[in-house]
Amino acid sequence: MIIKNLSAKNYRNIGSEKIEFSDGVNLLLGGNAQGKTNVIEAVYTFARGKSFRGAIDKKIIKFGESFFSIEIEFEDKRRRQSLSYYYSDKERVRKRNGIKEEKASDMLGHFRAVLFCPEHLMIVKGGPSERREFLNVAISQNDSFYIRNYACYNRILENRNTLIKNAQKGISVNKKEIDVFSEQMATFASKIYMKRTEYIKKLEKYAHGILLDISDGKEDLSLSYESDIYAQSEAEAKEEYLRILRGSIDKEIANGVTLFGIHRDDIDVRVNGISLRSYGSQGQQRSAALALKMAEGEVSREINGEYPVFLFDDVLSELDEKRQRYIINGIKDKQIIISACDKSIFDLDGVNVIEVEGGKYVSSHR
Ligand SMILES: Nc1ncnc2c1ncn2[C@@H]1O[C@H](COP(=O)(O)OP(=O)(O)OP(=O)(O)O)[C@@H](O)[C@H]1O
Ligand SMILES: [Mg+2]
Repeated sequence: MIIKNLSAKNYRNIGSEKIEFSDGVNLLLGGNAQGKTNVIEAVYTFARGKSFRGAIDKKIIKFGESFFSIEIEFEDKRRRQSLSYYYSDKERVRKRNGIKEEKASDMLGHFRAVLFCPEHLMIVKGGPSERREFLNVAISQNDSFYIRNYACYNRILENRNTLIKNAQKGISVNKKEIDVFSEQMATFASKIYMKRTEYIKKLEKYAHGILLDISDGKEDLSLSYESDIYAQSEAEAKEEYLRILRGSIDKEIANGVTLFGIHRDDIDVRVNGISLRSYGSQGQQRSAALALKMAEGEVSREINGEYPVFLFDDVLSELDEKRQRYIINGIKDKQIIISACDKSIFDLDGVNVIEVEGGKYVSSHR
């Protein structure tokens, strides 16, 4: 997958710009607060469905303006496509190939990108919710059903939690009603469980090889999926979830919340048999996070038959020279948009250098 260009209007500090990308390495080069991350944020919106910085759309509109719009043109192995998004206080307009799409979820699964930013260095060290988020975003780009199943699961979970909370407060609740939600929850949990199991296996295969490379053969990475059940088929998983949910209703009412399900899952990242989140050194955690992110791209290639676009925001400055080299060598045959304040570590031969200053972009690529 190759992104050709990004057009942006009133997007943060960008007035009106069209930025052309080359098929290889694109280096967004500029000082702090000039607009490097803004480009990566705009592009990644089309892969993730929202800002990765957690910003609401209203905050993204350039100060003093009343709307923003962004559009990308990209090419997958079959055809050239475009996605655009317009936001103002009055309306949101989403278009794919010039045709309006009503639902935000219809925009997903077309443009695939892997984002790596300083916060991702926390994937290994951070809490379970960060690893679940990583998994959800990665899987949903390759599987549009996943995100729909996940949304259904969350709705059912919310309803089930309301009933359980009411029961805890002593408001009379028919246990059969809770059971209906348990059944529905088990249905969606089992689908998500199977997808996560499958994805983690693929991710482990690549991340293992990448970390061996980074560490000169010293670090043997393994991933284990930590969930409430163990099952080998969707039917078995559903049965297991149902058994657990049915068997723990009294305990859940005492706690006032659903205690089991895929919303509590985690991944244990181990190196040489040791769990990195508790015992890893800072360097080991960073290397493993880098390996997982590079592996995310490899899995996407295995599933879709082509690499996604890699977006690396400001990560080089956070890594030591050896890991910087690993990234720079590893991205040669892929398309990447990378931001940095300093070009010294780049061999600029063939690199499209985009100078960034005050929301303006000047490219060396012709
Ligand atoms: N809604 C907005 N309207 C106008 N300007 C905005 C808006 N939101 C953010 N900005 C400006 O955008 C700039 C930040 O851009 P960005 O985050 O892309 O910087 P950067 O080049 O990545 O810097 P750094 O190297 O520090 O990460 C800041 O100057 C900020 O004030
Ligand atoms: Mg930045």
